[in-house]
Amino acid sequence: MITYAGFDELIARVYAHRQDHVFEYWGELIDAERRELLNDLTGIDFEGLQSLFAQTRRSDAVAGEFGPAPFIPIPKTDGENAQRAQAREAGIAHIRARKVAAFLVAGGQGTRLGYDGPKGKFPVSPVAGKTLFQIHAEKVLASSRAYGVDIPWLIMTSIANHEETETFLEEHDYFGIRETLVHVFPQNLIPSLDANGSLILESKNRIFKNPDGHGGSLTALKTSGALDFLAEHGIDTLSYFQVDNPLVRVIDPDFIGYHELNTADVSSKAVTKAGPEEKVGVFVRFPNGACGVVEYSDMTHEQQHLQDCTGALVYSMGNIAIHLFSVEYIRRLTAGGAIELPYHVARKKIKSLRAGAPAEIDGFKFEKFVFDAIPLAERSIVFETGRAEEFAPVKNRTGVDSVDTAREMMSALFRSWLAARGVPVPPGVRAIEISPLLALGPDDLPADLTVPDRPDVYLS
Ligand code: UD1
Repeated sequence: MITYAGFDELIARVYAHRQDHVFEYWGELIDAERRELLNDLTGIDFEGLQSLFAQTRRSDAVAGEFGPAPFIPIPKTDGENAQRAQAREAGIAHIRARKVAAFLVAGGQGTRLGYDGPKGKFPVSPVAGKTLFQIHAEKVLASSRAYGVDIPWLIMTSIANHEETETFLEEHDYFGIRETLVHVFPQNLIPSLDANGSLILESKNRIFKNPDGHGGSLTALKTSGALDFLAEHGIDTLSYFQVDNPLVRVIDPDFIGYHELNTADVSSKAVTKAGPEEKVGVFVRFPNGACGVVEYSDMTHEQQHLQDCTGALVYSMGNIAIHLFSVEYIRRLTAGGAIELPYHVARKKIKSLRAGAPAEIDGFKFEKFVFDAIPLAERSIVFETGRAEEFAPVKNRTGVDSVDTAREMMSALFRSWLAARGVPVPPGVRAIEISPLLALGPDDLPADLTVPDRPDVYLS
């Protein structure tokens, strides 16, 4: 057994759990490297590793015991419109009472975009070329101005992109938001396991770990001290959104109002799926009455294509990863009590060492999904929104859900705002962009606005 002053207990635990292969290169390490390895091992839940590994032998696929989730539809009738107006009022009051903060999850890298860096740094807006971070920041700022309050902005990063994200935001003066209102924190890591359930060495003195998924954001809110930050600001509602959607309404009074009036723990926005094969999770209701999301990859072909007697998809409400969380519910979820988000398993090739040489091995990564908080909640609602108004995910460089489609959708939305206000768009205009600082919706557009006749128009 190896020894190192001050780490006896940890080292004993490593041996007791038969993970001592991590000391294979101990004899070759200098003191600083030994400490790094011991630091990597500190905080690993060795008992937890066993139950994680047990999970790799179970399937994630959900048995077909669920039905479609009920949802609040886009209002069509007078009654629905009146309800919506009431919800909006409640939402506005809640925002004005300084109870709401924006929460962006941006732990992922732009890998599918072919971009080597935080996805939020990717320029997507159709004319001004604003980055995703700038678009989100300006919406937070514009909402603060619209409601006359300082809205805090939380951003979850990952170890891989934390520094670069912080530097980028600093360099741009947080796009006008007061620095003390912005709280950037990295998500936690969880060790991956090899095919035998053993920890993996990524180098002679480092354990391979992966970010613990966006579901880890709830734990990271606690471990990073963000829950204290929220308490200091008196915030009771978090408006959660993903970095990849430039159309998201980061602070939506209607949605917040329904969440409040229903005293929901968690509320979720949904859009009608573009078709059976669209790669989004769907909202379902389980036999115990709880709602939740089943990921597209966990649905059978039959479930995805199932139609009702009118020919409409039965599982039609797609998850666009926009949620409201009661802060109190996050506290309960992260208190270490009976309710906790489960881990999902993904088989991956992992870069490691074999007999001292670099090798790719088969392994398992573990991730939590934030929408698993929905079925654990006492009260949750699903709220339908229009795809054209609020969902343009930037997943790929071209093709479906790409930078190209997001730019087209942004331009089309801005055009529809101008049409709603009766502002003519000259025929020579190809792309239009409206800054969030000018308008968050058609009602904010100045009455005397004119659109110049040139191919690319930026209104700010
Ligand atoms: C996700 C949802 C899917 C939804 C779709 C909408 C999952 C498993 N599925 O799919 O139900 O319909 O978005 O666009 O999430 N992130 C972190 N840390 C992590 C992992 C991800 O912060 O450890 C962030 C990313 O930065 C990104 C978001 O979570 O903002 C989504 O991650 P991504 O892997 O792109 O999810 P999708 O598979 O596209």
